[in-house]
Amino acid sequence: MANAFSGQLDKATVLAWLLEKDAAKLQSLWRWADEVRAKTVGDQVHLRGLLEVSNYCARQCSYCGIRTGNKSIARYRMTADEIVQAARQAASFGYGTVVLQGGEDFGLTTAWVEDVVRRIKAETDLAITLSLGERFPKELERWRKAGADRYLLRFETSDQRLFDRIHPPLKAALAAGQVESNAPNNVSRWELLTVIRDLGYELGSGVMVGIPGQTWESLADDILWFGKLDLDMIGVGPFIPHPETPLAGAVNSGPDLVTADVETTCKVVALARIVRPDANIPATTALGTVDRVNGRELGLRRGANVIMPNITPLKYRQAYEIYPDKAALNAPTEDEPDTVMELLNQIDRVPGVGQGKRGG
Ligand code: 5AD
Repeated sequence: MANAFSGQLDKATVLAWLLEKDAAKLQSLWRWADEVRAKTVGDQVHLRGLLEVSNYCARQCSYCGIRTGNKSIARYRMTADEIVQAARQAASFGYGTVVLQGGEDFGLTTAWVEDVVRRIKAETDLAITLSLGERFPKELERWRKAGADRYLLRFETSDQRLFDRIHPPLKAALAAGQVESNAPNNVSRWELLTVIRDLGYELGSGVMVGIPGQTWESLADDILWFGKLDLDMIGVGPFIPHPETPLAGAVNSGPDLVTADVETTCKVVALARIVRPDANIPATTALGTVDRVNGRELGLRRGANVIMPNITPLKYRQAYEIYPDKAALNAPTEDEPDTVMELLNQIDRVPGVGQGKRGG
């Protein structure tokens, strides 16, 4: 582990940066993060093909558009053949990784996911990242043994009271008969991060920026946690209210609460780079959604070194509506390989070679 590189920032300093408004000072933060990025992970931008495999979800997270109970979206689950086909396509684009992301969908059974992982591994040289929510340690173990390399599970906020408010327990869905066979996972999300790491996955986590009720102080804690958890991957994006959720129209106001804007998100990206110098950090889709023209570029210039182009078949993409107007919904999309390459050319960066492991 590259702890020797770990940035030394205390909470007061992190908080001061989060609250900083002076443009010249912020320029120095962007430069600092970019220099650390160049020195540690270099100019390669790793491309991870993002495949949204299912929008079924047992959860009722108050921020998320695919929460159970949202009747306004059509539910879909990709077939194993469709997933393997999309993975082959990702490999043909030169991407090093495929990310299988979905709602907390227990219709994606342990054995089924295991089989999909095996098939992709047998047919391609791709790294496989799973992002399927809070699953049981036993399942995570089987998927790891089948060849899955990485797992993404954002902790969303380290403010436990806020987290509990926006992320009700699975019991509610069970009581409503929306989850059939599985007993609720009694390992908390926080504990799962350690389970995932101990199973030998590369561990990715992260937060939303500007969750209703999120304080600047808690966001400073989140950033320190990125360092303490020694995350391999850190994903952060602005909160975007979804009309079919309890947080529809919720906007933070007042001096204590985090604003969900591009600049604040970039500050978190930059500080994440400084506290975890060799982590893989994407310029996220949410950042590219709140600023369609510049969001991703700004992320890449301010600490990020990864893009996750959406490779979900277009017929499903509309329905993976975790927040509205997600980027890359209409063909030709900003996520076409050519368009992504153009962006990299413009900012003098090069596509990653190989799987883009942390430190590799
Ligand atoms: N706005 C921004 N990000 C969201 N996510 C879910 N819903 C929203 C939203 N409304 C993020 C969460 C989750 C990731 C897959 O998407 O952080 O972990």
